[in-house]
Amino acid sequence: MRMYDLILKKRNNEELSTEEIQFFIKGYTEGVIPDYQVSALLMAIYFNKMTKRETADLTMAMVNSGEILDLSGIEGIKVDKHSTGGVGDTTTLVLAPMVAALGVPVAKMSGRGLGHTGGTIDKLESFKGFSVEMTNEKFMSNVNNIKVAVGAQTSNLAPADKKLYALRDVTGTVENVSLIASSIMSKKIASGADCIVLDVKVGEGAFMKTPAMAEELAKEMVDIGTHLGRKTVAVISDMDQPLGFAVGNNLEVIEAINTLKGHGPKDLLELCLALGSNMVVLAKKADTVEQAREMLMETITSGKAIAKLKEFVKAQGGDIECIDDTNKFEKAKSLIPVYSDKNGFVNKIHAEKVGLIAMELGAGRATKESVIDLSVGIVLEKKRSDEVREGDVIAYIYANDEKLGEIAKKKLKECYVIENVKKEEIPLIHNIIN
Ligand code: URA
Ligand code: CA
Repeated sequence: MRMYDLILKKRNNEELSTEEIQFFIKGYTEGVIPDYQVSALLMAIYFNKMTKRETADLTMAMVNSGEILDLSGIEGIKVDKHSTGGVGDTTTLVLAPMVAALGVPVAKMSGRGLGHTGGTIDKLESFKGFSVEMTNEKFMSNVNNIKVAVGAQTSNLAPADKKLYALRDVTGTVENVSLIASSIMSKKIASGADCIVLDVKVGEGAFMKTPAMAEELAKEMVDIGTHLGRKTVAVISDMDQPLGFAVGNNLEVIEAINTLKGHGPKDLLELCLALGSNMVVLAKKADTVEQAREMLMETITSGKAIAKLKEFVKAQGGDIECIDDTNKFEKAKSLIPVYSDKNGFVNKIHAEKVGLIAMELGAGRATKESVIDLSVGIVLEKKRSDEVREGDVIAYIYANDEKLGEIAKKKLKECYVIENVKKEEIPLIHNIIN
């Protein structure tokens, strides 16, 4: 078999066989097939697309390129949740304790973030002493005993995806449904989940810019999951403005804590209930999503969810005093208010740009080597549909470098679209595919 022939075939819009897909994934993972040939194939896939069969084969070839986690030592149905990537998305930190409090095992392998803010692990490291380093045995026993553990994703899960994603990132071939679907699903399947709940983001701050595109991606992933024996549900949710108010690591952790205490942002809670209720049903802890929603709300009102967060953070060596008193989190040096210079309604908040501003303040990594500043970020005071008057504070910047803070202040103002006439509200949840 020659890579050259595979490129020609896809360029001519023909279907690749299972063996051909396995050949190119194996060759690329082992470094036998060079980047330039894979780049050409990716571009041909981008334009000519892949069939459902090719996409499923690509997913499995990537799963088999590395280790497949064996979570059979964990009792119960393991449901994993994955987001296609949003701005200020704190759902995992809220969801994990809520569903764990209902007895659903949460065995999460997470990564560090690249881009606007940190990943789940970076955020959890806002708790002083929190560690994701533990043996497999410890990970399993934590999940069995307290129902939740977060470990660091080893580089050996779907290594083919890691290489391919990095190449797609620099060759303009990220935004293809088959490539995104296989990339996400290969990692989920390699991490050993029995069922998968996907949060597919749509809007300006997401890969999928329209509900139709998001729906296509969601259906593709649900099909792959089902085809490979994993019950999969996808929730399509809005990313036309950041989720919640906080963007930045410990700011988002504080927001998650407040949500678990019953006074978080409405949109964050609503999305957590939509995702969580599907997780609880897949784990067979409730018969209907309506019933699951009520059970999840009860974990908040009864205090079980916040107690579960403490148990979880403590089990991984983290300081839990700041859960009772969030003022104990490290604070940024300057708090800079951003004012509106006109009257009107907030019709849009450019989510992606808000994420970039947070990153420039130090909340995210521009490169893999960057060190994250956990205390900086942005807290939005006004969101879409809110009425504002000239001089109102629309957001606060948390900065440790005053110069960067002033730049962020100017840029953040430009993220707000304030107009005289209020636009129709966009729903938070567009659709649920199962
Ligand atoms: N997230 C992934 O993991 N892969 C993609 O291709 C896109 C988003
Ligand atoms: Ca948020």
